Amino acid sequence: MRTHFIPLIVYTLLQGATSHYVFSHLLVNSTDSGHFKYIRDVGKEKGYDGEYCCGAEEFGKTPPIVPNLKEGTVKEVALRCGRQAELSAPKTETATIIAGTEVGFRIATHIASAFTSIGHPGPAQVYLHRTDDLQNDVGDGDWFKIAYQGPFNDTYWTTWVDQRTDVNFTIPLTTPPGTYLLRMEQFMPFPRPTTGYSQWYVNCAHVNIIGPGGGNPGPMVRIPDVYREDDPGIALPNGMGQTKGLSKYVPPGPAVWTG
Ligand SMILES: *[C@@H]1O[C@H](CO)[C@@H](O)[C@H](O)[C@H]1NC(C)=O
Ligand SMILES: *[C@@H]1O[C@H](CO)[C@@H](O)[C@H](O)[C@H]1NC(C)=O
Ligand SMILES: *[C@@H]1O[C@H](CO)[C@@H](O)[C@H](O)[C@H]1NC(C)=O
Repeated sequence: MRTHFIPLIVYTLLQGATSHYVFSHLLVNSTDSGHFKYIRDVGKEKGYDGEYCCGAEEFGKTPPIVPNLKEGTVKEVALRCGRQAELSAPKTETATIIAGTEVGFRIATHIASAFTSIGHPGPAQVYLHRTDDLQNDVGDGDWFKIAYQGPFNDTYWTTWVDQRTDVNFTIPLTTPPGTYLLRMEQFMPFPRPTTGYSQWYVNCAHVNIIGPGGGNPGPMVRIPDVYREDDPGIALPNGMGQTKGLSKYVPPGPAVWTG
């Protein structure tokens, strides 16, 4: 059963409920590389310790980040790579990826009480940040967007089709070779007049991209500075809901760089 439409008030009351998930598996070379191997492990949300729900040790890693600002610029730095993700950077391995191939982020399905498919309505977007220091980089530098999965039709999101667990996309062929933070976000926008209740599922992988290079990525943005709570891609305009009027949906952030 899906719980798509619950506002934050209800969501808070139901925090032991099952509509959360975490993208902990990187898919590379058509292979699932496992739980938090190439993806930075994340901290637990306050109040979601192991005892809170069902004894699930990792359940606290699954709740979304809720910037919860009424209007204006999103200031939540956890939107870069997830809650306290920088703490696990030193133990995160780096996946070699061939530019031009498909990779993906998959949710963990073994965590008791967590959702077993992408449960919340909303798009997914993928960004890259070039860095020579994956172990210490907190993601406060420049990012460019390489993928976007938006509405499937006027009432349904691509991330929902067939109760999927994955967001797959292609690394642009001409991406300059080097080490990068690869960041995936999937988030639930909220219909106006309510603002400040968007819910974000964000994780980052350590990757080494190899390939011909030659591209000039951009536009570059900073995260979370690029997002505003009152962006129409986050606070949906009149006439649009989480499952209506989606064909006019415009995502927040820069254009996709396709190489
Ligand atoms: C994503 O790619 C993996 C292979 O890496 C594949 O098994 C899976 O079915 C794909 N998922 C979707 C939703 O396309
Ligand atoms: C993917 O395949 C390439 C080419 O065989 C290899 O160099 C790379 O290490 C593989 N990546 C992973 C994460 O297995
Ligand atoms: C959109 O696609 C979903 C899933 O296939 C389907 O259930 C729904 O009826 C579709 N909506 C429209 C407006 O076509």
